[in-house]
Amino acid sequence: MTTVSMTVNGRSVSGDVEDRTLLVSFLRETLGMTGTHVGCDTTQCGACVVHMDGRAVKSCTVLVGQADGAEITTIEGLSRDRSHPVQQAMVAEQAIQCGYCTPGIVMAASALLAKNPAPSAAEIKAAIPNLCRCGVYPRLGCSIQRAGRVTRRAETISAAPAPGISAGDAAQEVPAISAPEPRE
Ligand code: FES
Ligand code: FES
Repeated sequence: MTTVSMTVNGRSVSGDVEDRTLLVSFLRETLGMTGTHVGCDTTQCGACVVHMDGRAVKSCTVLVGQADGAEITTIEGLSRDRSHPVQQAMVAEQAIQCGYCTPGIVMAASALLAKNPAPSAAEIKAAIPNLCRCGVYPRLGCSIQRAGRVTRRAETISAAPAPGISAGDAAQEVPAISAPEPRE
């Protein structure tokens, strides 16, 4: 067993977990936060990307012990009301089809723009290795560059739905973090 302690979306979590537990499993199965998806489990697809201390990481490649002491942000913590520029731009550019890959792409793109709000097409291609079998890549590139312009306050997006929580979503609480048993 490994004793871990970390911050997930601003909340402190600590407890004992199996050594081999992956961060993605800890988030989804222990904490009940299912916004982070598993597409392949073999570090190929990027559906599981979260931020670890501000860096985009594939959470299926991180043992939970390696995240001990880290600050983790998942799609649930990035923005609950769709107000992040990447979310707004992806909606406006219709860069979402099935949506299964979307949380990982949003997390990878938001980490990129936090470091580089004006990425070139080549920089986007290098930073976003995420697979999308629906083939939204051209629109995805446009939406990330558009989100960069919004981040730089060079553009506002009026075509996307206003940030906000739909009535259905608002009726649901933010996924509760069911923390593991606290240390003795
Ligand atoms: Fe992690 Fe595919 S589930 S890279
Ligand atoms: Fe990405 Fe379908 S929108 S796999």
